[in-house]
Amino acid sequence: MRPKDYPRDRRPEFAFVGRSNVGKSSLLNALLGKKALAKTSATPGKTQTINFFDVNGVLYFVDLPGYGYAKVPLEVKENWGRVLTAYLEQREQLQLVVMLVDSRHKPTERDLAMLELLDRAEVPTLIVATKIDKLKRGQRRQSLATIRDTLELDPDAEILPFSTATGEGQKELWRIIDEILAQQGA
Ligand code: GTP
Ligand code: MG
Repeated sequence: MRPKDYPRDRRPEFAFVGRSNVGKSSLLNALLGKKALAKTSATPGKTQTINFFDVNGVLYFVDLPGYGYAKVPLEVKENWGRVLTAYLEQREQLQLVVMLVDSRHKPTERDLAMLELLDRAEVPTLIVATKIDKLKRGQRRQSLATIRDTLELDPDAEILPFSTATGEGQKELWRIIDEILAQQGA
C-alpha cells in the first residue's frame, strides 16, 4: 500500500510493531476477535507494507510488518525503512505505537533502533511484553527488568505484560487505547 492509498478519513490510528514472531498477529486477533478483523488492504506475496484494520468505523489498528526478517532482500529492507520512517514521522492521526517485545528474549539491537526511531519521531510509545504466560513468577520480574535495561527505559515507564493464552494485558491495553480516544473527544 502506497502512502497515497492510506486511509484519508483521519480517524485515529494505533500502530503495532515488533520483531517477526513476537506475537503481533496473535495480539491483534486477541484484541479484536478474529471476526472483527477487517483488512482494508490485502498484501499479496511477501511485499512488506502497512496494513490498516478498520475497527468498528472508529479507529484503525495499523500493522507495521515485523522487522528482523533475515530473508528479505536488502533493497526491500531499505525501502521498507523509508516507508516506515515516513509513516511514523508524518502521520498526524497516529496516536500511539505499541511496540511488542518477546518476554522470553532479551531485546535486540533492532528493537533498540526501533525505539530510537520512535523517540526521534516523537510518537507516544507503549512497550508490551508478549508471551508472558511462558514465564514463571521470578523469570517474569527478571524479564521485565531486562527489557527495561536493554531498551534504556525510564524507571517509571510502563511495560505491559501480555498473553494471548491467559488474556492478561488485554483489558489494560484496551483501557489505554480508550483513554487516548477519550482525551481527544473521539
Ligand atoms: P510474523 O507475522 O510471522 O512476524 O509473527 P507475529 O509477530 O505475527 O507472531 P504470531 O502472532 O504469528 O505468533 C508467533 C507464535 O507465537 C505463534 O506460534 C503463536 O501461537 C505464539 N504466541 C503468540 N502470542 C502468544 C502468547 O501470548 N503466549 C504463547 N504461549 N504463545 C504465543
Ligand atoms: Mg504476523
